[in-house]
Amino acid sequence: MRLKTKFILVSLLGGLSSVAIIGIVAYTKAKQSIEQAVGVSCQTEARETAAQLNRVLHFARLSVEQLSQMRVMEGVLNNDEDGMVQTYLMQFVRMNKGYVRISAINRNNEVVATSELDEPGDRFANTAAFKQVLDGRPYFDDVHFDEPSQAWVTTMAYPIRAYYNVRQVMGVLCVQWRVEELSDLLDLAERDRAGEEAVQVMILRKDGLLIAGNHMPRAWLFKRNLRSEGALSAVVATERKRGFIQERGADGRQLLVGYDFGIGRDDALTAEWITLVRHDAAHLFAPIRNLWDWVVLVAIAVTLGVLLLSMLISRLSAPIEEMAAVAEKVAGGNFDVRVRQRSSDEVGTLAGAFNKMIQDLAEQREQLFTAQTSLMHADKMETVGRIAAGVAHEVKNPLTVISMGLDYLSTGFPQHTDENVPTVLGEMRESVSRADTIVRGLLDFSASSRWDVREEDLNSAIEQSLRLVRHELVRNRITVDQDLGENLPPLKLNRTKMEQVFINLFINAVHAMPDGGTLSVRTYVQQPSMRNDATGDTVAAVVAEVADTGTGIPWEILTRIFEPFFTTKPPGVGTGLGMCVVKNIVELHGGKIAMVNRAEGGAKATITFKL
Ligand SMILES: Nc1ncnc2c1ncn2[C@@H]1O[C@H](COP(=O)(O)OP(=O)(O)OP(=O)(O)O)[C@@H](O)[C@H]1O
Ligand SMILES: [Mg+2]
Repeated sequence: MRLKTKFILVSLLGGLSSVAIIGIVAYTKAKQSIEQAVGVSCQTEARETAAQLNRVLHFARLSVEQLSQMRVMEGVLNNDEDGMVQTYLMQFVRMNKGYVRISAINRNNEVVATSELDEPGDRFANTAAFKQVLDGRPYFDDVHFDEPSQAWVTTMAYPIRAYYNVRQVMGVLCVQWRVEELSDLLDLAERDRAGEEAVQVMILRKDGLLIAGNHMPRAWLFKRNLRSEGALSAVVATERKRGFIQERGADGRQLLVGYDFGIGRDDALTAEWITLVRHDAAHLFAPIRNLWDWVVLVAIAVTLGVLLLSMLISRLSAPIEEMAAVAEKVAGGNFDVRVRQRSSDEVGTLAGAFNKMIQDLAEQREQLFTAQTSLMHADKMETVGRIAAGVAHEVKNPLTVISMGLDYLSTGFPQHTDENVPTVLGEMRESVSRADTIVRGLLDFSASSRWDVREEDLNSAIEQSLRLVRHELVRNRITVDQDLGENLPPLKLNRTKMEQVFINLFINAVHAMPDGGTLSVRTYVQQPSMRNDATGDTVAAVVAEVADTGTGIPWEILTRIFEPFFTTKPPGVGTGLGMCVVKNIVELHGGKIAMVNRAEGGAKATITFKL
């Protein structure tokens, strides 16, 4: 994986994971505390409902107690002869809808007066309770169904005391308080919450019987027992608990339920009811969902930010990476590569300087290479020259002796008996002549410093050379295309050596065109071409070109053709000295020679003499 990709990945992962961790931790903490706070407030609502319930009951009991303390109640003593007690009771029930029936009972447990006109009135069935009230302690019972009035009630019984002696209990005031009243009160309370989310409040009898509630069918009241139905969590169903839970409602909605219990405070304990407040959790926890949305949003924003940053960094690092890649290529020897200059800032300047450095490096390398090659060449040439001179001198004299011996043998013994002798002598002469050619070539190669030069016409040297090889050209069906420039300035030449140069080139061309072809020879003045190294001026030059339509030179040997004894020809045909001698002669005349392959086929030698 590339460094850049790694960097992007690492920063992405880092950014994302830190945001994810921070987000999730923050979200979890916030969720917990919000849930706790909301739950506690829900529980508080349940407690307040319980307290409110207590207040309502307390108020109801207070009214009954006050009624019991009214002087008119003394009528229980005389069986309400004047009917005043009954009038009061009826009025009380009419004014307070919450009461179903009120009866005044004398100490003999006989109903003296009742709010129901046609009702004879019931006796106090619970004798223990009756006795308790006669002893001066009020009595309350839990919610129960009242047969005569066909209503769910709770009974409240207060002692009727003598007006002047409160210790003396004259009878019992027994009241049935309608529990349905509670649902009305809850509805009433709910109406004040207009605009807010609907909250369901329920009041259960201790055993789980639903005795009051809002937002539910009235038919459920006093019918459903939530504990036995298992509709409520066991926690709620357990007695005397307060707290909050989350549970799923019958319609599948998530609900938050706060619960508490209510007990009469100032009265003898008779009833204990459970209050429940149920909220829609989705509504309550909306802020948590918002929080989650925010966490996701921030995560996306951070991811995008990290991505953008990585892209920016990679943009910044791109030129540097490119430079690294280019530097690698340069190190591998490719000097043709350059860095793109994308901007004008420091990085751009750096890229420019980098390119310049590569350019300089390439030039210096080229120069170094040329210098090295010429040094090697010069060294080789000198050694070869020395050896050649020595060998040539040593071999030349024996060759002369052998040659003379051959002459003598062929002329001095004309009457020989063996008919093979002339053939053998001919072959020997031929071999000696080849050896002589080589020796002469070696001498040419080494004895260069002793040449005399004269002002000569290059064209006539070329024409003379062509004449000398004409026989070879004709024999190999080679046509000559001659284009010798007029008015060439005379050059300082050693005529014989220069002819040797062209003869070598022509013979090489002939060898390269075994099936015939065209030999082109061209001379002209180039204006200006070569650079005069001493003065820095550009000067004119005389150029001679020798081109053929032959095989061309394989590229792998192109650099070696000027090496002494380098040849691709079979022994006896080539010595490999030709081009070496040519180069030597040309350079000693102050010229240069270059050999190239022509695009259309064949090779071309270009000799340049500066003027
Ligand atoms: N015009 C050309 N076309 C194709 N190859 C050439 C040409 N001139 C030179 N060569 C190649 O260069 C080699 C060296 O040439 P050079 O003249 O030095 O030696 P030679 O021709 O082989 O032998 P000789 O010493 O007889 O000239 C040749 O063997 C040949 O492979
Ligand atoms: Mg040759």
